[in-house]
Amino acid sequence: MGLIDIHTHFVPKGWPELGAGRPFLRVDSERDATIMIGSAEFRRIHSDCWDAEARLADMDADGVAAQVVSPTPVFFSYDAAPVEAERICRIFNDLALEICAPSPRFVPFCQVPLQDPDAACRELERAVAAGHRGVEIGNHVGDRDLDDAGIVTFLQHAASLGVPVFVHPWDMPTSPRLDRWMARWLAGMPAETHLSIIAMILGGVFDRVPENLKICFAHGGGSFAFWLGRFENAWHGRPDLIATSAKPPSHYIGRFHVDSVVFDERALRLLVDTVGVDRVMVGSDYPYPLGERPAGAVVRKAEFLSAEGRAMIETGTARRFLGMETP
Ligand code: CO
Repeated sequence: MGLIDIHTHFVPKGWPELGAGRPFLRVDSERDATIMIGSAEFRRIHSDCWDAEARLADMDADGVAAQVVSPTPVFFSYDAAPVEAERICRIFNDLALEICAPSPRFVPFCQVPLQDPDAACRELERAVAAGHRGVEIGNHVGDRDLDDAGIVTFLQHAASLGVPVFVHPWDMPTSPRLDRWMARWLAGMPAETHLSIIAMILGGVFDRVPENLKICFAHGGGSFAFWLGRFENAWHGRPDLIATSAKPPSHYIGRFHVDSVVFDERALRLLVDTVGVDRVMVGSDYPYPLGERPAGAVVRKAEFLSAEGRAMIETGTARRFLGMETP
């Protein structure tokens, strides 16, 4: 058997010209390539980004039964004109299906032009009809967070279709302080995800979207779990500023999922205690270097988990989230 990894990425080995300023691929060898933005190297990647056989070999070695295969956020193109963005989404969504075609162990998630709710809903429907099983969205569109009216419309549409939504942080702020080391990934990404969960709660999104919306936040929900107490305290202490949700923040625990990729058993335990053992699913961020290998390593050996809890995190909850339940 093996577990279900709900957080992995792909990059196709080449795509049509997307327009000035858009990423292109510099192929360095049969197995190596570099995502380029203009003359700058964005990321060096390898054949495990696009080669189903390479991925399946890693899955077998790592004890992974199935992978959700999501876009790499640099291709979201939320800053493009909607018509252009919709074209780019179609290109990448169709290439994703080609990469995933060799095995039912791949569960493809699409991307959508989230800057335009009508176009996003349209591409979601097209992609799902073509074989996609869910959608990955960035955690914001410029200055618009997940409580933006258009994004809420999209989330409501996803809920009505029963399509699971995976929220990935991206487009972190830059500054001289954040541009050193990998500070945008190490401090910026967890803060981005944290901020978007706050926006879902205080922006009243959970009050407005149906309870059956299936939504999962990457990287254990960022820094949210560690600071829920501070958030709760502020909601009660400064209601004049932030009591904009119908209920206090802790009320909305149970309305969203997170992945397990926090790298440390103590962090996983806090996460499970905070959001619920039935709300955490294994995710790895495969095949990138900041991911966990093998997928679910901390979950597999976490001593605080019961056998039942571990089984939920490894497979059971993901099966429900992805609609893979056997009747
Ligand atoms: Co990721």
